[in-house]
Order: sequence, then C-alpha cells, then structure tokens
Amino acid sequence: MIFRQLFDSVSGTYTYLLASRRGGEALIIDPVLEKVDRYIQLINELDLKLIKAVDTHLHADHITGLGALRDRTHCVTVMGENSKVDVVSMRLAEGDKLTIEGVVLDVLYTPGHTDDSYSFLMRDRVFTGDTLLIRGTGRTDFQNGDARAQFDSIFNKLLRLPDETMVFPAHDYKGETVSTIAEEKAFNPRLQVKSVDEYVELMGKLNLPNPKMMDVAVPANMRVGLAQEDIAKRGWAMSASEARELIGRPDVTLIDLRERTEREKHGVIPGSLHAPYPDLAANVRPGGMLHELAAATGRRMIFYCAFGERSAMAVRAAQDAGLTSACHIQGGIDAWKKANGPLLPQ
Ligand SMILES: [Fe+2]
Repeated sequence: MIFRQLFDSVSGTYTYLLASRRGGEALIIDPVLEKVDRYIQLINELDLKLIKAVDTHLHADHITGLGALRDRTHCVTVMGENSKVDVVSMRLAEGDKLTIEGVVLDVLYTPGHTDDSYSFLMRDRVFTGDTLLIRGTGRTDFQNGDARAQFDSIFNKLLRLPDETMVFPAHDYKGETVSTIAEEKAFNPRLQVKSVDEYVELMGKLNLPNPKMMDVAVPANMRVGLAQEDIAKRGWAMSASEARELIGRPDVTLIDLRERTEREKHGVIPGSLHAPYPDLAANVRPGGMLHELAAATGRRMIFYCAFGERSAMAVRAAQDAGLTSACHIQGGIDAWKKANGPLLPQ
C-alpha cells in the first residue's frame, strides 16, 4: 500500500496520495493547485498512474488542483453530488464507493462545514475533510455551513466508526498529522458538549475572519470543468437530442465510458457498448477493441459518460489514435436525461 500525506504550508492543507502498489493506479484527495508539479513528480517517481482526483468539499482557502491534474494526466475529477462546482467527471453520494485498482473508499455525506462536505472511509482510516479536524472542527459560518448538520455528521457518523480508526483531516495549523476517533472523542474540545444546542452555540461564538484567499478561491473552485467548447468547435460533439435521433442506427456505436456502479445507478443508453474510461488508451490504439471495431464496421464512435468530461478526453485520445469519426455527447447522461433520452436499467 502506498499512502502519502503531502502538505501545503501556505494554506495548511493536507493532500493524500493513495495506491495499492508501485506501478498501479493512484487516487489523490484534496490537491492544491500550486503543488501540482510536485504531485506529478511524485506520481512519476513511484511509477503510478493517476486515475482520480477528489475534493472533499469546495474549498475556500486554496485553489483546487483538480482541473490542472485532469488537464495534465487525464484523470477523472470527483466531488460529491451536492457540490456547486460547475462540472466534475464524476459525482458521488452517501453509500457510493470511490474505487481505483486495489483501493475502495466508502463515501459518507458529512455536511456542516459546507453543504457539500464528504468524508471517505478506507478500512482503518477516514479522510474527514474539514468536517472533523484534529482537536477541532471545520468552521460553519460560510458556504451554507450549518453547525446543527455538522453535529449530526460528527456524532452520528464519524464518531460511530471504530475507536481505532485513524483520522486524516484536510487541514492542520499546528503540525498535527493524524489522530484517532477515540482520541477525538476524548480530547477534542469542541466535542465535549452535552447537546446539539450547546454545539451550535459554541460554533456561533467563534467569530473567525474569512480566509485570505476566499474571494479568489471559491469562484475559481466553482469553475473547474473542462472546456468542452473546444471539442465542439472541431465538430467532435453532438447534443443529447441530436444523439437521441441516432439510437438504433446501424452506422453508429454508442460507447459508455462510465463505471459499472454509475451504470447501475443511472441506467444506460439502449444498444451502447461498455468500455470503461481507465481502459481507453488500450482500447483506441491499433489492435485495441474500439480501434478494431471502428476499422471493421466503419461505424461512427459516439462516446458518453456522466457529464461529458471523460468523453471529451476520450474523443481527443481517439482522434489522436486515428479514429477520425469519434465524437461525444456533450454534457453526458446528465444532458441526456434533461433531453428525455431513453435509459435502460443495467
Ligand atoms: Fe474547507
């Protein structure tokens, strides 16, 4: 298991790099824009392939590295379904699993610091974002923060995890690196309250100044989506309603790049093939499944995913590999649903 806790001293942010083995797939949690070069260097040194970049919530104190990592590594960007970010490649909800090869994290919706705060549980450790900090809790006075919701997230979700579960937060300002659920139960001064009302009162009295970066970071972090217009300008995109007219036509193949769990949750476009995004490079190169299919049938390849990001990156890779008919459904299944496109249960 590869587990790295990386630190940005300017914002006091912890970023976590996870992988099950050298040479394998990697996932990064809460990357900071200014540190992206360092992450990529480490990923290369450890011979890893970055598959997913995840933010626990929309940060107010630093600009996220999600967009830059996606542009440079073609990884999938991930946030919770309640996030106000414009576009990410994948959105998760309570009970979903966040997976890469050899690593599975359970998704917990833990609102309170913000209304889009999520925690991720990996067996013996939990990544708590700014919901539960070491001997502290994330402030609840902006970004739809809610001390009552945070009390519920902490007391009824996080503190119910096994006592020995390690707590890895998104921030620390005193140099603490890790804690446990038992330690926080016993020694976190904010958690020594007798009722939710007492907690709400405590959080209401904090009177903290806004983060220095807030006016810059929040708007920047809400616009991390890949610019899909560029793909459209090249004629490599179609709208969901245009794609709907093509269902069942013998000269097109619809290709679903999403994961099995996304297909089960949202359904699939009738007649489409499943070719998961992480296998894309292998599938579009000569000898690969999609390359050979296009060559043998002459059909137009129409990629789709959840929101159009993975499919936009797939179109570029397919075009680079010589599949000149490749295009995608702009906006993905999200746009497809809005256009009343038919979906079959998976
Ligand atoms: Fe935060």
